[in-house]
Amino acid sequence: MSKSPGAIFDGAQRRARWAEAQDGPGNRRNPRPAPRLSRPDAADWLLVEEVLAGLRSRPKRLSPAHLYDRRGSQLFEAICDLPEYYLTRTETAILARHAAQIAACIGPQALLLEPGSGSSRKTRLLLDALADLAAYVPVDISRGHLLEAAGALQAAYPHLEVLPVCADFTQGIALPPTRRPPARVAVFFPGSTLGNFDSSQAVGLLERMGRTAGAGGGLVVGIDLVKDPAVLERAYNDAAGITAAFNMNLLARLNRELAADFAAGGFRHEAVWVPAQSRIEMHLVSLCAQVVHVAGERVEFQAGERLVTEHCHKYTDQSFAAQARAAGWTPRQSWTDPRGYFSVQYLEKV
Ligand SMILES: C[S@@+](CC[C@H](N)C(=O)[O-])C[C@H]1O[C@@H](n2cnc3c(N)ncnc32)[C@H](O)[C@@H]1O
Repeated sequence: MSKSPGAIFDGAQRRARWAEAQDGPGNRRNPRPAPRLSRPDAADWLLVEEVLAGLRSRPKRLSPAHLYDRRGSQLFEAICDLPEYYLTRTETAILARHAAQIAACIGPQALLLEPGSGSSRKTRLLLDALADLAAYVPVDISRGHLLEAAGALQAAYPHLEVLPVCADFTQGIALPPTRRPPARVAVFFPGSTLGNFDSSQAVGLLERMGRTAGAGGGLVVGIDLVKDPAVLERAYNDAAGITAAFNMNLLARLNRELAADFAAGGFRHEAVWVPAQSRIEMHLVSLCAQVVHVAGERVEFQAGERLVTEHCHKYTDQSFAAQARAAGWTPRQSWTDPRGYFSVQYLEKV
């Protein structure tokens, strides 16, 4: 008989509370109303401050975590199936091919912790190879999407303890109690989500993951590798315009949740390769000089001005190993695809 996943373990983090509220009445398990600016609690107010600080900075910049409301998560799933978006297909093939070896690295009776778990589609490849996992803890900021994915996973793996956590993984993750005590903690961080963080932030994030995993903990991380810029730019400027819709959805979200008045059609999506930083930058480019109001604040855009919505860093084995070592992780093994597009790495905290 299938079970529903355990209760959501909400962290105290402010973004998690905001993410929790965003699904509002549409979320049958959590019929809370969306946050209202007229009576902001501390969590709402901090979010407003964070967005406004990003819009006051030069260049204007918002956290990529804001891209993932319910609609954003759905659009990201569609991106994963795009012909241009080689990342998901390539990483999935690596995981499928080497699942037994990766599972052997993780070892028996581990707690598998997945920050930014999304649909948990890739996780199934590991779960199939990890017969006696103590528990699976998916963590995501997009609450409705997390619950759906955890529910589907629990139905498919009825004997596994699935403990979804709605939290901002950048704030550190408090592990929920498990029925069976785990022999160790293994962090699974696929999707090149690490690449969304600038170098010092990435080291900080890897350090926090190391503290959560503890001595003897493991890390399986997927990183996108440097390659032909044309391939990279195509992956983030797809012909069907799904990535553009994903990027633009951020403005609709700000209109809805922060009483903003971004005009539909006032911006266009662009993703550019910036070789000096070894990253794709995703921008929303203002099509004209315009004034937008966000949470009551006036924000001016010049014609052609860019709002940075996401950085996607691309690695070499060496650049990743340097970051990982700086964060206290020891690289143990890695796997790649025949074209050398993507790398899955296994590291240990000694
Ligand atoms: C690039 S997607 C990767 C999804 C999935 N792991 C995969 O490999 O396909 C990033 C995921 O992380 C989540 N996310 C982004 N920033 C987050 C944050 N700060 N805290 C928690 N989840 C976050 C998003 O909601 C999304 O599901």
